[in-house]
Amino acid sequence: MTTVISIASGKGGVGKSSLAANFAIRLQEIAGETLLVDADLLMANAHILLGHRPKADLVDYIEGEKTLEEVVQPVPGLMSILPGRSGSSVTLEKDGDPLEELVPQIRAMKNGFDYVVVDAPAGSGRGVLNTLSNADHVVIVLLGQATSFVDAYALIKNAFVERRITQFSVVVNMAINKSKAQAVFDNFQRTVSGFLPVSLSLVGFVLHREAIANSSRDCRPIVLAPGEKPLIEKIDVILYRILAGARSPVPQIEVSTSERG
Ligand SMILES: Nc1ncnc2c1ncn2[C@@H]1O[C@H](COP(=O)(O)OP(=O)(O)OP(=O)(O)O)[C@@H](O)[C@H]1O
Ligand SMILES: [Mg+2]
Repeated sequence: MTTVISIASGKGGVGKSSLAANFAIRLQEIAGETLLVDADLLMANAHILLGHRPKADLVDYIEGEKTLEEVVQPVPGLMSILPGRSGSSVTLEKDGDPLEELVPQIRAMKNGFDYVVVDAPAGSGRGVLNTLSNADHVVIVLLGQATSFVDAYALIKNAFVERRITQFSVVVNMAINKSKAQAVFDNFQRTVSGFLPVSLSLVGFVLHREAIANSSRDCRPIVLAPGEKPLIEKIDVILYRILAGARSPVPQIEVSTSERG
């Protein structure tokens, strides 16, 4: 059985790709065979964050040039990736959404994956909603900024109205500290629950750190850097909470009881 986690935010530049890459590396390490899918057809960059040079990508598959098995490729020593592409016009050329069947087809792959992490594009269009409605777990990345609130709210509203998605795990990224992260979530939850019958759960926060920004610049995800054990443990706890939140099996992840909350 494949468990799919889709990561979205509405607003761009909030850390979706960075979180998705780090989640996928940790899932491969602690839980099972993992595939990172970059569902961005316009400005894909998950492979760049990993320092990986794709030999084929999602657009080759969508255009029928290659099979899924041919575009899914290993990132040596880490997980597998299905890279997106930058500057593709594939979405403009087709009537339907090219991502509609992607997740079901990945689930149906012969030598399939235990976990799939989908890095959704920014926005809340049909492609984003398709990656969310086909997932077992929807993760929203939220910043303590009005623009992030507005865009995350719009995304959740569309996901509920158009796809009846009601459960969302929230990660507050670029937080100043734990209590401020909690306040950002509480504030957002109050707003959302005033209008929509959906359930949000705060699965964790990640501090704003120069080292994380630098890790993207250096094309080496932060969980691979030396001395990052506390952050790795935190990411493992976030994953544990995401996976515990719904119908999929929870992997054996060692977490201290104080971190589980
Ligand atoms: N916790 C953090 N602290 C500091 N910088 C961060 C943090 N998380 C992400 N960043 C940085 O923010 C920038 C945007 O991150 P990323 O590309 O992952 O965002 P995104 O949501 O995927 O953007 P897009 O919508 O354009 O795909 C990157 O330079 C990344 O390193
Ligand atoms: Mg991104």
